[in-house]
Amino acid sequence: MIVGSISEDKNVESRIAITPDVVKKYKSLGLEINLSKDYASHLGINEDDYKVEGANILVSDEDVIKKSDVLLQMNILSDENLNKLKENQYLIGVLNPYLNEKKLKEITSKNINCFSLELLPRITRAQSMDILSSQANLAGYKAVVDSFAYFQKAIPMMMTAAGTISAAKVLVVGAGVAGLQAIATAKRMGAIVFATDVRLASKEQVESLGGKFLIVEGAENLETEGGYAKETSDDFKKRQEELLKETLKKIDIVICTALIPGKKAPIIIKKDMIAVMQNGSVIYDLAASQGGNSELTKVNEIIDSNGVKIMGEANILNKLPVSASNLFAKNMFNFVNNLYDKEKKNFEINLEDEIIEKTMVK
Ligand code: NAI
Repeated sequence: MIVGSISEDKNVESRIAITPDVVKKYKSLGLEINLSKDYASHLGINEDDYKVEGANILVSDEDVIKKSDVLLQMNILSDENLNKLKENQYLIGVLNPYLNEKKLKEITSKNINCFSLELLPRITRAQSMDILSSQANLAGYKAVVDSFAYFQKAIPMMMTAAGTISAAKVLVVGAGVAGLQAIATAKRMGAIVFATDVRLASKEQVESLGGKFLIVEGAENLETEGGYAKETSDDFKKRQEELLKETLKKIDIVICTALIPGKKAPIIIKKDMIAVMQNGSVIYDLAASQGGNSELTKVNEIIDSNGVKIMGEANILNKLPVSASNLFAKNMFNFVNNLYDKEKKNFEINLEDEIIEKTMVK
């Protein structure tokens, strides 16, 4: 079996699905690797780095698509390349099935097997394949680093002969994977950290990282069986608004990470709440591409609202593509390893395996 990957559209995506490190792992399973020319040169990884591990570099994307049984990508292929796929080929990546429903229906109807890794169940066995966790963790870290760089004051408390600088106060909205890493990073840099979430299980996790959990009084636990957040009621929204409006008066930096799978991100930081924030404060909205948690967020723009800066980055992982690709490529390998039957030397779609069943686009 041959596993291939073609270059992503580098204008929008810097990450890659196959690093030289994982080529070795695929080879040890007995799989061949085909890559297109200049596959990772933008990351400082040249063709020789791949060849030395045993990968084949082909002259064109078309060649890679034609000569591979399985294509591993970050994002869905362009329409032109989707049309080149043949029956029984595999396409594995972050295919965004909600957004790309029509395209995926068309190709699956041609018996092309598609697997989308953001559909992975959050079970222990799938942890090593969990691209949402590996990427969200880095996003949470980078959002803190970027917002701190943009903030015009020092972060930790400093007592100097010239006077005392007080520690910056950070609020993290949504304490899932990205939020918890944001809390840990902000604490390491000396900030005072507050966090809130609709899942009460996250209270203990926030506190174990040294953050102060803000509870919406009288609220029930809004967690689904799968561990995700449920949509909030109007009453909850009102109480959360009151709590945050009071808190935001003293907060310097807000990191927004709140999401509800398959839905638009909830708007949590409203205009009137931003109006009470101090001049010079920063809101970093990691939910920007899903609509944003702040009412004023604009994708890939920095908005100034009475001195409060609202940053909405579409793909923050493009700012640390080497780390993000290293983790993504390992997640991808672990997924392929589970799909590949080493004895039959073939890919085996065992729908009794929850990981395979849930990620297969039908
Ligand atoms: P996510 O990216 O879907 O959402 C981020 C956070 O926003 C979540 O904690 C969510 O509860 C919160 N949120 C949503 N609406 C909100 C609102 N209106 N106000 C405040 N907060 C709001 O979630 P993520 O980071 O993917 O994690 C989801 C769950 O999956 C967590 O419980 C996490 O611990 C769990 N998990 C389990 C794994 C496993 O293998 N067992 C692996 C990774 C995550």
